[in-house]
Amino acid sequence: MQIKEITLKELSPQGFIEEKVKEIASLVKDGLAINALSGGVDSSVVTMLGFKALGKRLKTFFINNGIMRKDEPEQIVTLFKKLGVPVEVIDAQGKFFAALKGITDPEEKREAITKTFYRDIFSKLVKDSKAKYLLQGTILTDVDETIAGIKRQHNVFIQLGIDPQQAFGYKIIEPLVELRKDGVRKIAEAIGLPPSIYNRMPFPGPALSARIIGEVTPEKIKIVRLATAITEEELSGSRAFQYLAILHQDRVTGMRQGKRDFGLQIEIRCWDSTDARVAQPTRLPYEVLDKLSSRIISEVDGVVSVTYNIASKPPSTIEAV
Ligand code: XMP
Repeated sequence: MQIKEITLKELSPQGFIEEKVKEIASLVKDGLAINALSGGVDSSVVTMLGFKALGKRLKTFFINNGIMRKDEPEQIVTLFKKLGVPVEVIDAQGKFFAALKGITDPEEKREAITKTFYRDIFSKLVKDSKAKYLLQGTILTDVDETIAGIKRQHNVFIQLGIDPQQAFGYKIIEPLVELRKDGVRKIAEAIGLPPSIYNRMPFPGPALSARIIGEVTPEKIKIVRLATAITEEELSGSRAFQYLAILHQDRVTGMRQGKRDFGLQIEIRCWDSTDARVAQPTRLPYEVLDKLSSRIISEVDGVVSVTYNIASKPPSTIEAV
């Protein structure tokens, strides 16, 4: 299926919002729709469009999968409450960690998250809620990258020839599928979301599990979550496109208190990019890197090595998994 792109130049935000609100309302009619909010710009815009179209007939869920960043669930739910949009939090941490147990292959990890999300959690929520429609924030770049076989984005089904009605028991509406990220940001601002959402740094669907090499466990998530929080604090002034911390699987020899310590390695990545399709490592000042490294080593237990990635995308990718 060929999707016609709406470029930033062609996009009229108010017109787009009105059109999509009408479209959602006419598809769902007097029924119910459901959507999952992660707090990223795409799912936030979809939540607002759905709420405008359906009001309380939109059931928005925040699935706490246990692999989000520090305080993320609380922050997002509070923000939407302020906007008048009710959000129900589902604690699914145990299910996600059980599904990820023992898996080391990157694609299998993504697959485990997708299956847990859609098959175990979401399809049950849809069935229990009696909603026939799922609103989803798929954008054109997700479709391109999945079809090209670069990375399977967890929200692309129709485009892969998977019928969600057959596979999971519901229909999917994708109001943002003609847009790229820059267009979605423009809609986010026009629809009344705050800068913390429309300027939000990209964050992958598989969340912190995309930043752990090897098996994902609650202990490793704790480590990479703390390293991520420090990295985001220290690099927030860098004006880079995206920055992140990765926990490696291999240990390296270090020393603490005069003793050999076979410890953990954290890799920092910080990217200059406009659309994530190509990216270059930001030329960060050495003092910034130095402070970041000192903080990670002193605040994150067990870390003895901090590296900075200096390879461009391609052949590197922004995330590690
Ligand atoms: P890569 O790692 O492919 O990432 O260079 C490109 C951009 O996409 C984000 N990313 C994802 N976003 N679901 C998403 O919604 C995913 O599965 C996913 N994987 C990567 C990544 O953070 C970067 O901005």
